Amino acid sequence: MSEKLATLSFSDGTPSVDFPVLGGTVGPEVIDVRALYAKTGKFTYDPGFMSTASCRSNITYIDGDQGILQYRGYPIEQLAEHCDFLEVAYLILNGELPNQEQKATFVDIIKHHTMVHEQLSRFYSGFRRDAHPMAVLCGVVGALSAFYHDSIDIHDARSREISAFRLIAKLPTITAMTYKYSVGQPFRYPKNSLSYVENFLYMMFGTPCEDYTPNPVLTRAMERILILHADHEQNASTSTVRLAGSTGANPFACISAGIASLWGPAHGGANEAVLKMLAEIDDAKNIPAFIKRVKEKDGHAMLMGFGHRVYKNYDPRAKIIQKTCHEVLEELDLKDDKLFKLAIALEKVALEDDYFVKRKLYPNVDFYSGIVYKALSIPVSMFTAIFALARTVGWIAQWNELISDPDQKIGRPRQLFMGATRREFVPMNKRK
Ligand code: SDX
Repeated sequence: MSEKLATLSFSDGTPSVDFPVLGGTVGPEVIDVRALYAKTGKFTYDPGFMSTASCRSNITYIDGDQGILQYRGYPIEQLAEHCDFLEVAYLILNGELPNQEQKATFVDIIKHHTMVHEQLSRFYSGFRRDAHPMAVLCGVVGALSAFYHDSIDIHDARSREISAFRLIAKLPTITAMTYKYSVGQPFRYPKNSLSYVENFLYMMFGTPCEDYTPNPVLTRAMERILILHADHEQNASTSTVRLAGSTGANPFACISAGIASLWGPAHGGANEAVLKMLAEIDDAKNIPAFIKRVKEKDGHAMLMGFGHRVYKNYDPRAKIIQKTCHEVLEELDLKDDKLFKLAIALEKVALEDDYFVKRKLYPNVDFYSGIVYKALSIPVSMFTAIFALARTVGWIAQWNELISDPDQKIGRPRQLFMGATRREFVPMNKRK
């Protein structure tokens, strides 16, 4: 079959040039413009990567118009219903769902990497108690590369594998320690008789005076939330991890870069921002005034937890989280939770408003997740840290894919230069 080509022609008489058109297994084709500069002396201009595929990937597929999300081909709805988080982590990392034996081995390995180097716990005392958990997380995860020198050889497959185990196993410990430090309680060591998620909740809420027995409904809810956040194609933080990884930086440093990128309110920080927004709106009677401010773009007001670069339809994760929200509030006898009711009312107003309809703005993963976290007694400032805990799996899988991709090169975009052209130096006494 002959190669499909795209022809670029110019209005100034420059000869036209052909570029190969590449097809994936599903999703839009891409035009391979790698030779564009060599052939024409021109670059593409695409701030925000609106039309740019930055890599080939086999991990996560999204169809934004249909509201479809699949990890390694499996629909997110099925994985969220039938799997636990470590099973999904195995799938994302290895490409296949584990059989019973593979799952047991994986869980066992992760369990035996949950403790952090004792000296790492002393790292925390350098932070203020009121530091934002994401600030602490960036620092402590970055510091892992100072503790685990034996697994930072990125060219050694075994070394990469061990650093992946370490990151997935230690993130719950580090995240829970971040919380404990902020409230002045002693750190809890991991308890390996518990599951991954139970252990996280135990390290968050157990104290030496009172043991914590995780509630199965709440554990399941957290399990599901972690699954929904585990990977999401080439989003901003994943692209940050890939860009950092393209320089040959070690995996702990790359994941720390991803955490920093996730923190922003336009990305993972939106879950915290949604709760702040709901608290500010306070009552359903104030929704019209808030929506008016958003539409008038008054003081950068935004409907947080709404809109997505890829989804121009309901984010499938938001649907699952909304259902989980119902289950959790029912279990905790909080059916009349004020924030949940307010969120439902706000969503309804927005989905019927022309401004949001025209721009195809729907609730995203962050719109309801905060209400579940809050019901689980997780403080608002910890929300994005839990997103980071879950996304670590996706970041590692994407980083691994980058390292083994023969097309991989250092990420180095170019620019459309709009500054001053060459001019001669003016001595100080001659400057106006
Ligand atoms: C995540 O990319 C991923 O996959 C991310 C993520 C993942 O799992 O990794 O899914 C996680 O980051 C979810 C998104 C969380 N962020 C928020 O909820 C913050 C609010 N949302 C927006 O900031 C925004 O919608 C983005 C950042 C999510 C998407 O931005 P785009 O694609 O660049 O779109 P845009 O900002 O250019 O918006 C297009 C129009 C603009 O209006 P006009 O200039 O055309 O008049 O829609 C408006 C925007 O002002 N708009 C909103 C809005 N989102 C977009 N207006 C009001 N409220 C909003 N939330």
